[in-house]
Parts: sequence; C-alpha cells; structure tokens
Amino acid sequence: MKSSSTLAINGGKPIREEPYPIHTTILDDAEEKQLIDVIRDGHLSGFSARPGERFLGGTKVKELESLFQEKFKIKFAVSSNSATSSIHSAISALGIGAGDEVITSPFTMSATGSSVVMQNAVPVFADIEDRTFGLDPKSVESLITSRTKAILTVNILGHPSRLSDLKEIARKNNLFLIEDNAQSPLAIHNGQMTGTIGDIGILSLNYHKCIQTGEGGIALTACDGLAENLRLVRNHGEVIVGKIDKDQNKNQLGWNYRLSELQAAVGIPQVDKIEMLTEIRTNLASLLTNELSNFDFLSPPIVEEDSTHVYYLYGMKFLQGSVPFSRDDFVKAMNAEGIALNSGYVQPMYLEPMYQYPDLTPQLKTAIQNASNIPNYSKGICPTAERIHSDEICITDICKYPNNEDEVYQFIEAVDKVSKGLS
Ligand SMILES: Cc1ncc(COP(=O)(O)O)c(C=O)c1O
Repeated sequence: MKSSSTLAINGGKPIREEPYPIHTTILDDAEEKQLIDVIRDGHLSGFSARPGERFLGGTKVKELESLFQEKFKIKFAVSSNSATSSIHSAISALGIGAGDEVITSPFTMSATGSSVVMQNAVPVFADIEDRTFGLDPKSVESLITSRTKAILTVNILGHPSRLSDLKEIARKNNLFLIEDNAQSPLAIHNGQMTGTIGDIGILSLNYHKCIQTGEGGIALTACDGLAENLRLVRNHGEVIVGKIDKDQNKNQLGWNYRLSELQAAVGIPQVDKIEMLTEIRTNLASLLTNELSNFDFLSPPIVEEDSTHVYYLYGMKFLQGSVPFSRDDFVKAMNAEGIALNSGYVQPMYLEPMYQYPDLTPQLKTAIQNASNIPNYSKGICPTAERIHSDEICITDICKYPNNEDEVYQFIEAVDKVSKGLS
C-alpha cells in the first residue's frame, strides 16, 4: 500500500482529483436582463457601413464604450470583436504599413506579433527584462531604425511593462507607443491605468480574461483622429470615407471587426464587476505569495514600486540549483498531483514556424520584401526571454474566480509534498 506521501507521479494518490472549472466570469441576472433586452428589441447588431449614427454601432455597443471611457478615464473606447482585431486596427489606424517596423515583445500570446504581420509590417523582437517580463527599454532602443514606426509593448501576466521609459523612448524617437493590455486591465503604473499610457491601449474580453463578452476587444485612446481611424477600420472604412467628407484624403481600408449587440449587452454589467473580479485575483495571489515564502526555490512575482499587479496569471521563478530537482520535473510532478502549473509561458514568438526562414508565412515574406532590413528571428536574439521561458518561469492560473482559498492551500500542499518527494 502506497503511503499518502507517495508522489502521484510514482503511483500515489493525487492531491486534487477533480478538474478545475473552465475559465468563466460572474454571470447573473444583470447579464441575463441585458440579453433579454436585446432579444426583445430584435436587433442583434446595430451597425451599418453607411454614413450616419449607425456607422458607430447600436445602443448596447455605444453604452459599453461609454462605460469603458468612464472606467478608464479616457476620451475614447472603440470596441471590436476581439483584442486581435483591436491590435490590428491600432496598427492600421496609426498608418503603419508595408515594410514598416514595429518593435515588440517575443514573450506574449501570438496575436501581438501576428497583428503586425496582418498589416504587412515587420515585427522586430526586442528582449524582455527579468522582473516585469515586459520589454527591456535598452533592447528596444538598440533596435530602432529609420523604418521603425511604433513600439508595441505588452503588459504581461497582469503587471505593467516599463511604460514610463518606453514612452520616453517613443517620444524621443518620434514613434507611437501601443499597449497590448489584454492581460492587465486595472493595473497601475506611476498613478495611471495601463492601457491609457500609450497612444492606443488594447483590452481583451475573451472568455479567459478578467471580464468577458465571449469574444471582444476594446481600443482606448485620447486622440480624436485615432478614434476616428479605429472606427473606420472596424466597419469597412473604404465605403464611407469619401461620403462623409469629400476632401478627406484618407484611404482607409476597413474590415468587419464589429461587436454584436448581444456581446456588448453582456459586457455592460461586466464593467461594473471588474474591480470585484480583480480583487478576487489579487487576494488569492497575496495568499499564494505569503504561503510560498516557506519554499526558497520558488520566488513569487515581483511588484515594482511604481506599479500594481492584477495577476492575470501567477508567474513564479524556479531557482535552479537550490533544490536537487529540475523545474520541469517539479512541474510534471505537480501536474500528476492534479495541480495547474506550466513550465514556461509560450516559447519566444520568433521561434514559431511562421517566423522561420526560408518558409516564413507568406504575409511576412511580403512585409520583408518591402523592408530595408532583413529581420533576425534566430534562436539567441532574446536571451532573457529564452532563458525565462526554458529554465525559470512556472505559471499557474489558479488565482481567479471561481477558485478560492482552497485551491491556494491545495497548491501549497502539493508544493510541499512534491518538493519533499523529489528531494
Ligand atoms: C497579451 C495578449 N494579447 C492579445 C490577445 C488576443 O486576445 P483575443 O483573444 O481577444 O483576440 C491575448 C489573448 O489571450 C493576449 O493574452
């Protein structure tokens, strides 16, 4: 008979046997009532790609946008059907096009880089620094060329990147700053909300984000001209530009990136819940940080003095060499105990097949044909990102609704069992 201390990976009883709940948010009567309103009204979308009020969407879309404007204290919130659409819209709205370079992070979800490629522009990957896991300003500066148009920074895992430094670099070099803030709504950097610091900031409303509409994205901007461009990109801009203003020399191609009334309706009460859902994350994360202090080989996420963390994901550093087992063996043993934990995040993006010469994805080939520099996507270009991903970070997503303290204590029980069992 195996003792209860036998690791599950060696045939013992796992600490957790039930699966974790699939990503969700708090949905109650408020969302239900909003959806019923739309169904009774009978208009599932309010958009029309013609001049007039309906070019900007239906009543729910407009209400959702004004709630985001209030919450983020910014002049414009332009919704779309995903953060991917919003990032692409931002790049297009800023006039970035074929062969232009956008400096971005390799340590992010793929949409950050592919949105650049979608605009036939060239992603140039700068390294990250190992406290915030965001762009390293020094690396960004070293990559600026005459073709660089923007810095697309990512506030990753829930913590702001070095936004003040990046903003200063953008200002000095006459570049735009775009914030991919999909993972970090409500995080603060130097007293200001992330997503409102760059020229355009993006939020995601997909089903694993803090608040949700199923799918959806929001672009925040303080600039009238950019808001107008974002709206043109969202709704077939090319058919309307000449009709609204004959002298307008814009030739803005648009897509269909519109959010339906049903999605916007669900989002309206969600905006009111963003603080509550964020507090659940930060409370569970504080408890986990506290409890992890008993284990020297795991170092909890750093929260910089000028910033707050909203813990979209909880990323720990595994201190290699301080214990007689590797990060990957630790994670495998934790997984066998039924505990949610990943080795690394996603591999640095330039190592994905679409960036591999000579078989680059066709859109990237076109982008590079228009560029003056051939970008380097080889292994080794971002050593910090590679090291953090392959040796150091392990990530759990337990700190979120509907999990509670039980999941945190269970996690700690598993860390204790596995670290003893592997030693
Ligand atoms: C950093 C980051 N950017 C962009 C996206 C894309 O978001 P969406 O699924 O809304 O297109 C995600 C989604 O996970 C993300 O984490």
